[in-house]
This record gives sequence, C-alpha cells and structure tokens, in this order.
Amino acid sequence: MRVSIREPRSSDAEAHRSAVLRSVEHLAPWNPVEPDGLPELLRRQGEGLRTFLIINDEDGGIVGKCNVANIVMARFRNGALGYDSYVPYNGTGRMSEGLRLVVDRCFTAEPRGLGLHRLEISVQPDNVRSVAMAKRLGFRHEGFSPRMLYINDAWRDHERFALTVEEWPGV
Ligand SMILES: CC(C)(COP(=O)(O)OP(=O)(O)OC[C@H]1O[C@@H](n2cnc3c(N)ncnc32)[C@H](O)[C@@H]1OP(=O)(O)O)[C@@H](O)C(=O)NCCC(=O)NCCS
Repeated sequence: MRVSIREPRSSDAEAHRSAVLRSVEHLAPWNPVEPDGLPELLRRQGEGLRTFLIINDEDGGIVGKCNVANIVMARFRNGALGYDSYVPYNGTGRMSEGLRLVVDRCFTAEPRGLGLHRLEISVQPDNVRSVAMAKRLGFRHEGFSPRMLYINDAWRDHERFALTVEEWPGV
C-alpha cells in the first residue's frame, strides 16, 4: 500500500484547492470543479455524508477525495461513492488502492467503520476511467438510469454499479 485514508480537516483547504486546480482538465467533464469547496464539505459532514481523503504516504500529498453520500441506515445500510483523483497522482494506481481502503472502511462494523451493507457507484456511460474503476473495485453492473444526475448544466444518464459486503474480499 502506497496510500492511506483519513477524514479531511480545515487545514487541508489550501492543499485541496491546489490539487483541484491542477486537475481541472480531467475533472471538469465529469464532476463539479470546486477548488474552494472543502470548508462547505466539512460543514455538511454527518450521518448522511462522510468524506475521505486519500493520502500519498511518501510525501503527504492528496491523491484524491471520496464522498460516501446519501447514507441511509436502518434496513438499507447503503451509501453512494463519488470520487476524484488529482494530478500528479492520477493514473498511478494510487486512487484504486485508496478507494479499496474506503470501501473496506464502509463495510467494517461500527464504530471502527461505517457499518454499511451496500455501496453504489453511478457513472456517466462515456466516463471510461470511472467505469474501469468501478469494475476494478469489483462492483457489479446493476442497470442504467436515464437523466439521473444534474452535472454540467444537464441531466445526465448514468450506469449504476453496486457491491454488497458479502461480495467484498477485503483489502
Ligand atoms: C475516475 C478517476 C477517479 C480514476 O482515477 P485514476 O487516478 O485513473 O485511478 P488509478 O490511477 O488508480 O487508476 C488505475 C490506472 O492507473 C494505471 N496504473 C499505473 N500504475 C499502476 C499501479 N502500480 N497499480 C495499479 N494501476 C496502475 C492502471 O493501469 C489504470 O489505468 P487504466 O484505467 O488505463 O487501466 C479519475 O480519472 C478522475 O478523477 N476522473 C475525473 C472525475 C471522475 O470521473 N470521477 C468519477 C465520477 S463517477
């Protein structure tokens, strides 16, 4: 493992800003680009949203960010993963390592983990790198949802992938 995961803190705001600004070109087609978005994201952390930063162990840089959003407990215990990787770490396999750690944390029982049973990833069909990521993590293709999310000024179709804890081999 070349990476570790941790929750973001307010002192990460500047490093997060630089990482997003370095990465605009590959983020912009697929996700909102919010270099100054960390403080607001920290304010929104709670039962329904947990964010993890993926940290490169060698230099402490931010490899990427993963939101576990729309968390619903009770009989569902479900969350939706959304993620971005940042220059210069993108395409080096570190994001895949980090997301494996996030999935593992999600499926680990409380209080160490989030105690979830099922995770979803929704990806625009043309987002080849993210579709590859969902498959690399072992997520199953579950279906196609027309006009699912509002991104870049339009309702975008998404392919839906999912994984339950029974299918997760662990890290
Ligand atoms: C989707 C996204 C998060 C993928 O991140 P990434 O940085 O490419 O992730 P990784 O580096 O872990 O991906 C592995 C790639 O690195 C390559 N790689 C290089 N060295 C590697 C190593 N030592 N181990 C594993 N893979 C390695 C793999 O071959 C793979 O390339 P491939 O996809 O061409 O096969 C990133 O492209 C991104 O942020 N996109 C924009 C935002 C976005 O689309 N978010 C998701 C919305 S649903």
